[in-house]
Amino acid sequence: MDFNFSKSEEVIQKVAREFAEKEVAPLAEEIDRDGRYPHETFDKMVKCGFTGIAVPVEYGGSGGDDITKIIVISEIAKKCGATAAILSIHAVFVQTILKFGSEEQKQKYLPLVTSGGKKTAFALTEPNAGSDAATVKTTAILDGDEYVLNGTKCFITGGNVADYVVVFASTDPSKGVKGLSAIIVPTNTPGFSVGKIENKMGIRASQTAEIIFDNCRVPKENLVGKEGQGFKIAMIGLDGARIGIAAQALGLAEGALEESVSYMKERVQFGKPIAALQGLQWYVAEMATKIECAKWMTYRAAYLKISGQPFTKEAAMAKLNASETASFVTNRALQIHGGYGYMKDYPLERMVRDAKITEIYEGTSEIHKVVISRAVLG
Ligand code: CAA
Repeated sequence: MDFNFSKSEEVIQKVAREFAEKEVAPLAEEIDRDGRYPHETFDKMVKCGFTGIAVPVEYGGSGGDDITKIIVISEIAKKCGATAAILSIHAVFVQTILKFGSEEQKQKYLPLVTSGGKKTAFALTEPNAGSDAATVKTTAILDGDEYVLNGTKCFITGGNVADYVVVFASTDPSKGVKGLSAIIVPTNTPGFSVGKIENKMGIRASQTAEIIFDNCRVPKENLVGKEGQGFKIAMIGLDGARIGIAAQALGLAEGALEESVSYMKERVQFGKPIAALQGLQWYVAEMATKIECAKWMTYRAAYLKISGQPFTKEAAMAKLNASETASFVTNRALQIHGGYGYMKDYPLERMVRDAKITEIYEGTSEIHKVVISRAVLG
């Protein structure tokens, strides 16, 4: 058992840390305040190879695997939860095509969405199909050589900026969940439109949109996998994606601890730095211990995935634990900062808001408990 990073993982961590400090941190407050999508940062992440992380070089990726993906996402999340969310959710489309796409689809789409700078989204959720994802009502009915999509998806991260969306729709409504299929939709297709853009509590820059399909026709070649495989493709995609959200939560918690440690050493009350106060030392001890736990659960889930072992339960556990850790640690960090933590001059209140979503999206904590308990009880 080896808990150390390899030399190349250390290099990636250093590159991602410097990128986060130089390119991500300076924009974090402004893009949160204005709810502005950071196109310029996305383009820089493309240049650094982050959008193609865990994608083989022959498809335009930068190589790497889920461990390097976690390293990059968590380093970015230390400085900005929204930018980490953008990267993490972009990877869900990319990994879905990499795992389930035909060779033609991989050659066509992966270079575009890795080194090519195109943006993506993963469209599963609907107004009445949230946690109960199997009840998707959007349809994609074959008509000649084209699927005709009709329906509405909501809460789609990047839905309004994406160039390509993988849509989960029913190709045979009579078959229920076994009639769901995954279909690639270029967003410039007539019949695709963007509806409401959500005004969110946190990760405000990542953009969350309603997307609408009104007789939206795409070639039948855009089907990913086979008809009827859609729900499994979505579930397997989410298993991997949940490791990415665990990494986002881990980074937020680590960032909040770093902020707290430097503040506690500088802030003087009662004639000494507040780091000398035992009550706050105990906070730090709890925060650091929870982070350590979240870190190794997240890396272990990724290790299981890349070594080809089952990881559904471990990904759910990692995300459940890391997201609750992120909320706990960011709240504690705000408390350590006292009144200053509550003000927008410091990043703590943003970190608290950004952490909350990690307990909700890509499966709520309660859904993860369903997944974990089913695996444990059999
Ligand atoms: N891997 C492979 N197959 C799986 C699977 C997995 N992890 N989970 C389920 N399946 C298969 C089952 O084996 C079953 O197949 P068979 O019929 O062949 O046996 C089929 O899928 C149906 O499974 P269930 O009966 O377990 O399905 P369910 O209706 O009880 O739902 C659930 C299971 C875990 C609750 C699921 O609905 C779920 O994960 N819900 C949460 C949805 C979610 O995470 N949404 C997030 C949206 S995406 C997002 O947030 C992106 C964004 O933009 C931020």
